[in-house]
Amino acid sequence: LVALKHQIPLLDLRPQNEPLRAEILAALEQVIDSQRFILGDDVRLFEEEIAAYLGVPHTVGCASGSDALYLALLAVGIGPGAAVLTSPFSFFATAGMVARTGAAPVFADIEPASFNLDPAAVERQARAHPNIKAIIPVHLYGGCADMDPLSEIAGRHGWTVIEDAAQSVGATYKNRRAMDLGAIGCLSFFPSKNLGAFGDAGLLATRDSALAKKLAALRVHGALEKYRHEWVGINSRIDTLQAAVLRVKLRYLDDWTRAREANAALYNSLLATSSAPVIAPRMESYQTRHAFNQYVIRCQQRDELKAYLAAEGIGTEIYYPLPLHLQPCFRNLGGKPGDLPESEKAAGEVLALPIHSGLTRDDITAVCDRISAFYSRS
Ligand SMILES: Cc1ncc(COP(=O)(O)O)c(C=O)c1O
Repeated sequence: LVALKHQIPLLDLRPQNEPLRAEILAALEQVIDSQRFILGDDVRLFEEEIAAYLGVPHTVGCASGSDALYLALLAVGIGPGAAVLTSPFSFFATAGMVARTGAAPVFADIEPASFNLDPAAVERQARAHPNIKAIIPVHLYGGCADMDPLSEIAGRHGWTVIEDAAQSVGATYKNRRAMDLGAIGCLSFFPSKNLGAFGDAGLLATRDSALAKKLAALRVHGALEKYRHEWVGINSRIDTLQAAVLRVKLRYLDDWTRAREANAALYNSLLATSSAPVIAPRMESYQTRHAFNQYVIRCQQRDELKAYLAAEGIGTEIYYPLPLHLQPCFRNLGGKPGDLPESEKAAGEVLALPIHSGLTRDDITAVCDRISAFYSRS
């Protein structure tokens, strides 16, 4: 093996941002000149443009993906005394925002192939927790959860379905777009997402116009009109500057997603012929488009492999090393090791490889060669 000519970081945004530099700076200057930093024209225009992209009639920009979840829960009346079922194998915000409302997160285990909620496990929890009022399926890594059976269970028990599509803009489920698969969809524009802002930003989407109106009010302290507060909300607007950046980037999103898909296909074919004992991600038939926000393998000696790749100049990450039912702050919920074995197993095996749209064929070949070299060495 020859030394890598350059480092291969997990994420490099320069190949995406550099060609757009002039376009983005012009958009930012326009906001600065307009002085409309709060809910300026770019916010409304971005909401319209991304609504068209997602195929959902109403969208509401907010300050982050975390706030999108919180606002969605508030809007449907989740609070103390209620429980909300979600995946233990997600970013903390999914369950953290449930707890923030005063409701209790309830976890059901995941399916090992999709890393998303297992409908059979959800059904078991439904019987054990009659106070569940909503379910938050997470579309992890850019692949949709199996929404039809999950929605069927939710419908039978009268739960609201809130999608955590933070990682999945552009993904489809049976050819329907993520963010249009439940009562409310929640998106994050954290810079590492497929559509990333230059800071924090998020979005809500819904088909229900009354709910859209309430969500838009909740992001301005619950005011339907100025200084008249119908509900107690929070301050969580999307910055006009972020909306201006996102309007430019949205036009290129599908090109970038196609590049991610091509990178994933190349990894899959290289890993399939390699002798390395790693499991490449498998798409379920209902995952008609995987957005590959992350390309995640399962592997043996995961932490040693990660350290080896880091020494070789290759960045990787573990999403997520500690399932949510075992987080220290949720001790009061009584979760114990062994409760959710598939999530716990995944937490010990997963490793995200570089997948961003700026990677070359040589980069991906080099990553796969290094993985093989690690296993033939040890
Ligand atoms: C699955 C999931 N849910 C929620 C969030 C929260 O989004 P944000 O970081 O924009 O608050 C993220 C991203 O960080 C996420 O990956």
